[in-house]
Amino acid sequence: MRFVLLTGGAGYIGSHTYLALHAAGLTPVILDDFSNSSPVVLERLQRLTGQPVLCERGSVADKARVQALIERYKMTAVIHFAGFKAVGESVAQPLKYFANNLGGMVSLLQAMDATDCRTLLFSSSATVYGDPATVPITEQFPRSYTNPYGHTKLVCEDMLSALCASNPAWRVGVLRYFNPVGAHPSGLIGEDPSGLPNNLMPYVAQVAVGKRPFLNVYGRDYATPDGTGVRDYIHVEDLAAGHVAALQKLLSASENFTVNLGTGQGYSVLEVVRAFEQASGQLVPCQFAPRRSGDVAQCYADASLAHSLLNWRATRTLADMCADAWHWQSCNPDGYR
Ligand code: UD1
Repeated sequence: MRFVLLTGGAGYIGSHTYLALHAAGLTPVILDDFSNSSPVVLERLQRLTGQPVLCERGSVADKARVQALIERYKMTAVIHFAGFKAVGESVAQPLKYFANNLGGMVSLLQAMDATDCRTLLFSSSATVYGDPATVPITEQFPRSYTNPYGHTKLVCEDMLSALCASNPAWRVGVLRYFNPVGAHPSGLIGEDPSGLPNNLMPYVAQVAVGKRPFLNVYGRDYATPDGTGVRDYIHVEDLAAGHVAALQKLLSASENFTVNLGTGQGYSVLEVVRAFEQASGQLVPCQFAPRRSGDVAQCYADASLAHSLLNWRATRTLADMCADAWHWQSCNPDGYR
């Protein structure tokens, strides 16, 4: 059996990747402190795989614990999802982000180094491109940040570069996610934000299911076809498959890589709303609001490197993303609660 440690494996992207790894014949082991996820996910994963879920409740910053876990299972690789990701919160509480996202990363890397487990996929983000000068965005674009959350992603990438330069035994894949949305088609797992959703798709889903009266559309005067922000939404199932492809590459080749995981196609806020209304048969009332601070007009990937390097590309459409997000939301109006 080949075991793969998933830090933050009970979260939104981690849980979908868990299923994709399992289907690919690997054995994922979850380490999660459940600070932003629910243990109910574990029951759902067990139902979907028909097998008990290997999971430890704990922090990625507990170095002794992580070392013991890596040794116990002789982990083949680690996928590091664990991290905070709310932009506004990171502006209000930067130390929380530095401690968890940077401190957690250093501790994890030390545990990996000490146990000679040096194969890692890291969850980075298109946020490292800041406000891109043009679109589509290639991996060569300059990096910047506009908030502490984005800064932590950038610094983590730099830590990994330094580590790889220091020791050729490290095998590292940096995955820059665009906008993950949607859910597993079973409706059993999906995105479950706590409180008011920050991101568009879960907010739209909560309006459609009647939990919130309307969507605030942040900005209608961007230089985009309909004036609203354009993003590269990617189905979380495609993203999960991207992790399997990236891990296979990392295990079979002797190169490190940094790659965009997106579809290469941008959609505006209003296009997403229309697609969601179609998929759900519900109305999604909208109100225009001022631009949200830190938002960019357009952000979508040049996804060609992922295709040539990993032989992976996203296949699900915006309609699929909305249909699966709606299925999850309508089956679980209160998420995992
Ligand atoms: C946001 C973060 C980004 C982070 C990513 C993943 C900001 C500024 N950016 O990306 O750093 O990596 O989430 O967590 O927060 N929108 C509305 N109404 C809403 C919510 C969103 O109109 O209630 C619009 C936004 O203005 C934007 C689009 O929908 O044009 C997508 O927003 P969102 O889902 O928050 O993603 P990003 O801003 O791309």
